[in-house]
Order: sequence, then structure tokens, then C-alpha cells
Amino acid sequence: MLKPNMHYADLAESYLFYHIAQKTNAYLEAHPGTHLYRMGIGDVSLPLCAPVIRALHEAVDDQADKTRFHGYMPECGAPFFRKAVAEHYRKRGVLLSEDEVFVSSGASDELGDILDLFDRSAVAMVMEPAYPAYVDANVMAGRKIIHFPSGEENGFLPEPREGAAADILYICSPNNPTGAVFDRKQLKAWVDFANQSGSVILFDAAYEAFIEEDDVPHSIFEIEGARTCAIEICSLSKTAGFTGTRLGYTVIPETLIRCGMSLRDMWVRNRTTKTNGVSYIIQKGGAAVFTEEGQRGIRENIGVYKKNARVLMEALDMLGIRYCGGKNAPYIWLRCPGGMGSWEFFDYLLEKIQVVGTPGEGFGSCGEGYFRFSTFGSPEDTEKAAERLVSLLK
Ligand code: MLT
Repeated sequence: MLKPNMHYADLAESYLFYHIAQKTNAYLEAHPGTHLYRMGIGDVSLPLCAPVIRALHEAVDDQADKTRFHGYMPECGAPFFRKAVAEHYRKRGVLLSEDEVFVSSGASDELGDILDLFDRSAVAMVMEPAYPAYVDANVMAGRKIIHFPSGEENGFLPEPREGAAADILYICSPNNPTGAVFDRKQLKAWVDFANQSGSVILFDAAYEAFIEEDDVPHSIFEIEGARTCAIEICSLSKTAGFTGTRLGYTVIPETLIRCGMSLRDMWVRNRTTKTNGVSYIIQKGGAAVFTEEGQRGIRENIGVYKKNARVLMEALDMLGIRYCGGKNAPYIWLRCPGGMGSWEFFDYLLEKIQVVGTPGEGFGSCGEGYFRFSTFGSPEDTEKAAERLVSLLK
């Protein structure tokens, strides 16, 4: 009889956001017609900006024209898309070759797929609280995982130390779920740590567009030494509202070599075998994000989410609830009031004020007692949710 991948038996019963969706659906079944204030999963509520929509329409028209039609796209990305990304980095002072940029169908897909580059025996360090897919993808592969906790004592920004030593080091900055951001010095310490031990940093930069402070790095490649130890995984989901459209990109420097093998070349081999790329239409829409007009368009949308963050932070300030995030990231991470457990607080908010958030425990055991609000909801819902929170908890 075929033996399935038995590591699936080691996974938690269901994936965090799936579990939340099941719970909220059950609530809606029991209370039909109720409006929920959804601040759980970080899914955007605003439409794609005008320059992106225009580019998508034009690309659809190309597909209707015999002379402009595109079939299979290059697996690693359309040259125009790779160029647009490399140029975007160049404007920020990071020099990349276009061959170091790979298109992807989004960061969550890529964070799982990229593990193909590493041996099954490689140990993964996950700095927690963390996006749960880091852990789950490694559990599925049967890898040993070091759960490296962080907390309020270090601002959820742990420094490298012996207990973090592993082959694969996950770093997410701005962080999901805590909203904490590493500064240059802190990131440099991780880069040095990785270079000394020969490990590889998987740098999740999905939220870089939310950084407000000038001196906070947007890319790990702003840090000296990163080109020999890091892979950067980016997404247009939160940056430009592509959660439903699906598009991201990954940077693997040519200089990232382990055991004489180029990880960049390995990824070319992987992609050319395992994908037929991302559609022409979507990459055209994505390239429009990096134009001047596109950057203005996405800034407007991000501004709306940042206003949501301020509304929620004001409500928490009024209630005297401790929190972090919300400034350089679209998430607010708070202490559950009254010593409540994080799932207990989830149920309490759902039952009493129909507000949906994400229990901190879903991001690792050190997240117990915390809760996350996403700021991607509609402004109307966010205002109402903030008012409801204040009346419930004051
Ligand atoms: C989150 O809410 O943490 C993210 O939106 C989930 C994701 O990007 O898959």
C-alpha cells in the first residue's frame, strides 16, 4: 500500500486562517444576516489602483491580437517584469541583476516552494510569533524546527544567539504578526551570524511597503554581507492589493553559494521544471506597480490602511491596552485584556461585538495571551469595530 507523507500527521489539526474561517462561518450559520467586522486575515479591501487596472486591460487586449498574443511565459519571469523589479531596487540603492529576480505567484506559495533548495536534514529556525506557514511547510517536509521565541522584553526583535543556530533562518520584517521592524544594526547582526555559520536567511519582505521610518531597511540586501547569505521573498499582495490577483517576486543573489552549488542556478532549474511561469496579463499588471503612477496609486491605498491603523491604535490607547505595530506594518499586536487567553478573547469579541481578529497563539506558543488586528478592512468597518471595542472593554 502507498505510504503517504506521514509528516502531515504532525501538523496542527487545521491551518490557522482556515480554522478562523470555519469558526466565523459557524457563527454566521447560527446568526444569519449578522455583519462581521473582519480584521482577522490580512486580506485587502481596496481595489487595484487605476494604473494597474489599465495595464491589465491592455494586456487582455494583447491576448486578443494575433501579433501581440503571448503563450507560455519564461518560467523565471517576463524580462519586462524582472527589469521593473531590479530598477525599483536600484532606485533604493540596491544593485541587482535582472537574472537574480524571479517572478512568483505570491509569497505564501513561494515560502513553501523555495524549501526545495534545501536538504531534508536542514534545520529551520522560526522566530516566533511567526506567520504559521513557515512552520507548517517545514513540518510537511519532515524538517527539524527550532522555535525561537521573542517577547516584549526584546520588542519582538530577538538577537542571534546560540539557540538560534540553524541552517535556514526565517526573518520577517516588518513582522507579521507583531509589526516590529529590525533596524540596520540588528539585521547586520543576523547577516553576520548567517555568514559565519553558513546558514541561509529567508527574508520575508511582504510588508516592506508599510515602512514609514527613513532608516528602517526595506530589503535585506541593503545590509552589507547579505548577498552571500540571504534570499528575499516579496509580494504584491499587501503592497499593491494583489491578494486575489496573485503575484510576487523573489531575489536570489548570484553570490549565494552553498557546498559549491549556486542557489540561484538551482532555482532556475527548479522553476523551469516545476512551473510555466505566471501569466503575461498578471505580470503586466505587476510591472505597472513599479511605474511612477503605479507607486502613487499604491501609496494612496496604503494611506487608507494606515489611517485604519491609527483609528484602532487610538481606541487601544483610550482603553489602556498595550500594543505594538501599526506604524511600519499593517498589523497591530496587543495584549489580551483581563489576562484572557488568545482564543478566549477571539470568541469573546466574536460573540459580543462581531469583531474578528487573529489569536496570538496561532503564531506560536509565545503568542498566547496576545491578539492581532489586521488594518486591511474597510475604513467604515474599522471605525465601527473600534467604537465597538471601546464600548465593550472600557
Ligand atoms: C495574514 O493574515 O497573516 C496573511 O494575510 C496571510 C497570508 O498572507 O497568507
